[in-house]
Amino acid sequence: MKQAATQKIYIIDNEPEICWMVKNVLSEKGFDVHTAFSGERGLEMAESVQPDLILLDLQLPDIEGLEMLQRIKERFNKLPVIILSAVDAVNVAVRAMKMGAYDYLSKPLNVNKLCVTLGNALKTSRLINEVDNLKRQITDQASSPLVWSCPQMQKVMGIVNNIAPYDVAVLIRGESGTGKELIAQHIHSHSSRSGRPMISVDCGALPETLVESELFGYERGAFTGANKDKPGRFESAQGGTLFLDEIGNLPLNTQVKLLRVLEERRFQRLGSRREIDIDVRLITAVNTDLETAMQTGMFREDLFHRLNEFAVYMPPLRKRSEEIDLLAGHFLDLFNRQFNRSIKGFSPEALWLMRRYSWPGNVRELINVIKRAAVLTAGDTIESACFPPEILEQTAEKEESITTVYSEPRRVIQPLRKVCQEATRKIEHEAISRALEQTRWNKVKTARLLKINYKTLFNKIKELGI
Ligand SMILES: Nc1ncnc2c1ncn2[C@@H]1O[C@H](COP(=O)(O)OP(=O)(O)OP(=O)(O)O)[C@@H](O)[C@H]1O
Ligand SMILES: [Mg+2]
Repeated sequence: MKQAATQKIYIIDNEPEICWMVKNVLSEKGFDVHTAFSGERGLEMAESVQPDLILLDLQLPDIEGLEMLQRIKERFNKLPVIILSAVDAVNVAVRAMKMGAYDYLSKPLNVNKLCVTLGNALKTSRLINEVDNLKRQITDQASSPLVWSCPQMQKVMGIVNNIAPYDVAVLIRGESGTGKELIAQHIHSHSSRSGRPMISVDCGALPETLVESELFGYERGAFTGANKDKPGRFESAQGGTLFLDEIGNLPLNTQVKLLRVLEERRFQRLGSRREIDIDVRLITAVNTDLETAMQTGMFREDLFHRLNEFAVYMPPLRKRSEEIDLLAGHFLDLFNRQFNRSIKGFSPEALWLMRRYSWPGNVRELINVIKRAAVLTAGDTIESACFPPEILEQTAEKEESITTVYSEPRRVIQPLRKVCQEATRKIEHEAISRALEQTRWNKVKTARLLKINYKTLFNKIKELGI
């Protein structure tokens, strides 16, 4: 998070003495001060400086004052701009305020007045940002695309909400389709960077030759075909978050470069020597086994530790069967709206099949199944007949045989009593589920088959979440 002490002030003024004087005064007060002596240079550097406030002289040699202000406002809509104007240009300064400048100061500058105006402008800007963030959080919560209820996801959300406001690198791990990108968006929208963009790059989808130019951008002439300057994703994400998906696919050369950039907090576009400071929070995701990749030399250990300041593990959907009903209902609502249908829900058998299916494609697969069923269902309830064969033909053996490349690295040793309880629970779950399947959910017949009374069966079904 940005601290008040490191707030950046950007002076754009063609008089070096003024820049020098203001820089001295403000640096002493703990501001990080940057200067530019022309309009073009001022605009060129603004993206990499990412200032918190601009002091803008209206009499620049190359760009007319109000046009300059308009170009700044187009790029940094919310940034406070204080106009520095010669006494005979007060009319123009007033017009500048109508265009969104915060205030104007006449030259020669009164240092006390400069400090007071600057302090007020920064305070107002901070309050506006806070209000915007709060408004966004309220709408986010009301229309959050994330749905969860099970204890595993509650744990994940607890961690995620705790770390979201802090500028720490987060590595999100989990199988494909478990919601890694959605979690990255949640972290970004609950951070102080939410007013700036989150830029996503799928490292797995980019050919090796393109990765670096995508990430770091290039200058005209850097390579054949580079006929104009192009900013990379790091620059587009300035002030915000860069989400690197499938980080395990990053070529080794690029891993070295990425590590250096993260350590130095600056980089150069390909073909350029100009250093650009970065102010980007990095979130990465991976659905492969990075530990093996490190052992085989395919992933750098130093980079892993740099990215893994906080790890978040997304549980696979088969371990979240308690929340299948909720998720299925959520997506059914979505497709009811999308297809203008009014399907009310699922038959008990359909729900049961969904809860025990192994969902190798996780939430993404569930979405497809519900979409398909919403299209095929004629009545107002989704029946199991609308499900694809892999769900109808699943067997307990298949469920057991699912292995995964994703696993939490540490195995926790449990007390023996707990291990036995869990094993019993699993066996009971399996036996009751099979019997229910056989009797097509006739509970009287199931109780008879299992030689237990109806009440016990009823309680077990509830307790085991069948
Ligand atoms: N808890 C959730 N609530 C609502 N929608 C979800 C949830 N989890 C995932 N989704 C949806 O499931 C789909 C897959 O999620 P996402 O793309 O975030 O997964 P991923 O882990 O990044 O997958 P991949 O590894 O294939 O990139 C998206 O449409 C996402 O909106
Ligand atoms: Mg993804």
